[in-house]
Amino acid sequence: KERKIIITIDGWSSCGKSTLAKELAAELNYIYVDSGAMYRAITLYFLRNHIDWTDLAAVHEAMQNVELEFVYNPAHCRSEMHLNGENVEYVIRDLVVAEKVSDVAAIKEVREFAVAQQQRMGNNRGIIMDGRDIGTVVFPDAELKIFMTADNAVRVERRFQELYKKNPNVTLEEVKNNLELRDYIDSHREVSPLRQAEDAIILDNTNLTPEEQFHKALKLAKERIGQFAV
Ligand code: CDP
Ligand code: CDP
Repeated sequence: KERKIIITIDGWSSCGKSTLAKELAAELNYIYVDSGAMYRAITLYFLRNHIDWTDLAAVHEAMQNVELEFVYNPAHCRSEMHLNGENVEYVIRDLVVAEKVSDVAAIKEVREFAVAQQQRMGNNRGIIMDGRDIGTVVFPDAELKIFMTADNAVRVERRFQELYKKNPNVTLEEVKNNLELRDYIDSHREVSPLRQAEDAIILDNTNLTPEEQFHKALKLAKERIGQFAV
């Protein structure tokens, strides 16, 4: 009998993690969770409520008022991030949020809050989660761990194309600076920094189309699911 496994996809910003995770989840009939959406939603809450996140007491108080939920939207065939009952899936993708999210995600209390909720979502396995610390901290016992990477210039161009569609005022330079800054903070922070799990498989998609990366990863997933059959 096939047993459901946990698949983690970690890596640098904008290298195609969520694109891959979504397609794999649809194919395997697994739940897809975008862990970055949680850090983005908390950042949005802090920005809107003018929380000084360098003040740990203020952070603690603010976190009592944050409720995050992934709500499935059948019209878009995906789960969307809800912050205190409001659908924030679209607004959390804004560069204004992206510019602060790595600072907020480096706060210990914020991470503990997010990680606890992420681990509950994986209780029944059958889940694919993408982020930075999913294979190292959230699900260290995941059956398949993928670490994604792609050349910087390619990642910048991919994210620029996405953001430009929403806002033609956005510049390539801004996007480049943001990705570089986030990658630096994410990989140098004290609490669960971005790093490749020892047992992760590297997937460099610089020269892969989304279809090609999907077929590579699906093959890996099927092998692992086969190994863990009971
Ligand atoms: O999609 P993109 O690569 O732009 O980033 P994201 O996955 O939406 O994550 C946004 C930010 O949240 C990252 O730059 C990290 O600072 C933080 N994050 C994290 O610290 N840990 C995770 N598991 C996921 C995201
Ligand atoms: O989740 P993450 O930030 O790692 O990246 P993403 O949002 O999945 O992908 C960023 C952009 O790169 C999307 O517009 C994808 O369609 C595109 N992409 C691509 O062009 N080629 C790939 N092999 C993977 C993603």
